[in-house]
Amino acid sequence: MSRLKNDTFLRALLRQPVEYTPVWLMRQAGRYLPEYCETRRRAGSFLDLCKNPSLACEVTLQPLARYDLDAAILFSDILTVPDAMGLGLYFAEGEGPKFERPLREEWEIRALVAPDPYDHLRYVMDAVAEIRRALGNSVPLIGFSGSPFTLACYMIEGGASDDFRRVKTMLYDRPDLLHHILDVTTKSVINYLNAQIESGAQAVMIFDTWGGALSHRAYREFSLAYLERIVAGLTRERDGCIVPSIVFTKGGGQWLEDIAAIGCDAVGLDWTSSLAESRRRVADRVALQGNLDPIALFAKPEVVAAEARRVLDDFHSAGPGGGHVFNLGHGISQFTPPENVAALVNAVHEHSRNLRSRS
Ligand code: CP3
Repeated sequence: MSRLKNDTFLRALLRQPVEYTPVWLMRQAGRYLPEYCETRRRAGSFLDLCKNPSLACEVTLQPLARYDLDAAILFSDILTVPDAMGLGLYFAEGEGPKFERPLREEWEIRALVAPDPYDHLRYVMDAVAEIRRALGNSVPLIGFSGSPFTLACYMIEGGASDDFRRVKTMLYDRPDLLHHILDVTTKSVINYLNAQIESGAQAVMIFDTWGGALSHRAYREFSLAYLERIVAGLTRERDGCIVPSIVFTKGGGQWLEDIAAIGCDAVGLDWTSSLAESRRRVADRVALQGNLDPIALFAKPEVVAAEARRVLDDFHSAGPGGGHVFNLGHGISQFTPPENVAALVNAVHEHSRNLRSRS
């Protein structure tokens, strides 16, 4: 049994009864918080911050000090895994992530090996352990990874891309090579997430940010099949507690039934899906996480609260019961007014308690 003071988030993921809808936000520790910017300045850069366990712990806790959030998420990045594979991650100011040595030649692809998470990614495991100690038994800690396809996009393109020309050219011309990259990356992700669980992560989320850019057929073969392998390879129980998994394919709402069938506990949804309709489609096979448009946080606080109530009402309209974790449909924008986040979190807690007392 869980010894947490607040395990609402874990119970909702397992579709057990909860008193209110738990809430956390993707990228909750980030540049919209002045205290985050201050710690990042002290660290030197974003990557130095990720690689310093005590500063990573400090920023992980910052949003929890401000808001009544129901989960903490490890402060890190999905691209630490290809960095540990030797691709040389760096962040060019204003341009997002880049790799010094993107995968271009067949020999480079054939030479890829899954990194030992306790060696090249030791700083992540140290951060997980330190965050767990700092959280005490307050709220659960989420560990995470990128999906193999999303990681492959950055590894092959070498950075962000509008059209995924290089990765998709490989998909069509040399599917064998792309499958090889995805295979090695899948093994890396399984080892990485299990090491996070071993180090103290109490739930895990897989971010498939670019799976939604694939064609209907290619999604199954090049993203979903690998997500399924990962879920099957995850440590299911640790310290007597189930470690739930969340799979989030941005833009993947049309494949919801297929995602819900791979064995994960919850599916993340972006703001383009209706939660009520999604709930009917998955028929209680999985919990759902989402799905407020992150840009709604730019409206007046009372509008933010009203939009949060709409998301809760949408889920609730398909019947009473749990299985919902409130979140945004994607990461919070760096320009978000911090006071609007308080309005959001409070509205989620208050309105979801009201919905439960009425039903
Ligand atoms: O949710 C959290 O608070 C945990 C931390 C977290 C970060 N990145 C911190 C971060 C998580 C879960 C991620 C995941 C991540 N990273 C994804 C998947 C989710 C998504 O957003 O689609 C992706 C695609 C990345 C790769 C990445 N890292 C990008 C594209 C960028 C640039 C974004 C930008 O706005 O410039 C990053 C950098 C990054 N990762 C920042 C943070 C807080 C901003 C870096 C900074 O402080 O300068």
